[in-house]
Amino acid sequence: MTTTEDLAFIHRFEPARDAALPPLLLLHGTGGDENDLLPLGQAVAPGAALLSPRGQVLENGMPRFFRRMAEGVFDEDDVRRRAHELADFITAARQQYRLPAPVALGFSNGANIAAALLLLRPEALAGAVLLRAMPPLRQPPEVALGGKPVLMLSGVADPIIPPASSQLLAEQLRAGGATVTQKELPAGHGLTQMDVALSKNWLAGLA
Ligand code: MLT
Repeated sequence: MTTTEDLAFIHRFEPARDAALPPLLLLHGTGGDENDLLPLGQAVAPGAALLSPRGQVLENGMPRFFRRMAEGVFDEDDVRRRAHELADFITAARQQYRLPAPVALGFSNGANIAAALLLLRPEALAGAVLLRAMPPLRQPPEVALGGKPVLMLSGVADPIIPPASSQLLAEQLRAGGATVTQKELPAGHGLTQMDVALSKNWLAGLA
């Protein structure tokens, strides 16, 4: 495990034990950091390389990947800027660690920045697992996702990201040509064992 500040984002990197598996880009939720999703990454893709950056925006001391005006109301100029910065970090980290394009595994705010990457810099990701995601942009640009695989898991009782909101994002990604598998779980905003099992199963199908 490496902790390094050489690249533009503070991050942790865990090298692959099985180089045949796609690397995972772990993107934490509001108030998380680069350590948060490492156990989830290890659980859903044992042996895969893990690249886990810390969001560079602070909201009352809590790291995030982009600014928001209120819960669910995003500063979309900042979404765009931060998505490009994160995509540039991915390019640099891939060179440094000799990695193929990663599959994002994002939760909440991390899932939303992963969706922004898909819409704005699709070449940055080989696919994505979006846990509790909503549209990061009200008017997404036209994008060519060329069948990129995306798993979206939402919670029917999620008070922060209603399933209808996840549904809208799924439609936007499908309109761009992504192959989206979307499921609504009997869950709230927090992750459950079902999220872990479904993500693991879906990722195993990619390898
Ligand atoms: C966001 O701000 O990205 C979403 O509201 C999810 C969250 O609370 O982080």
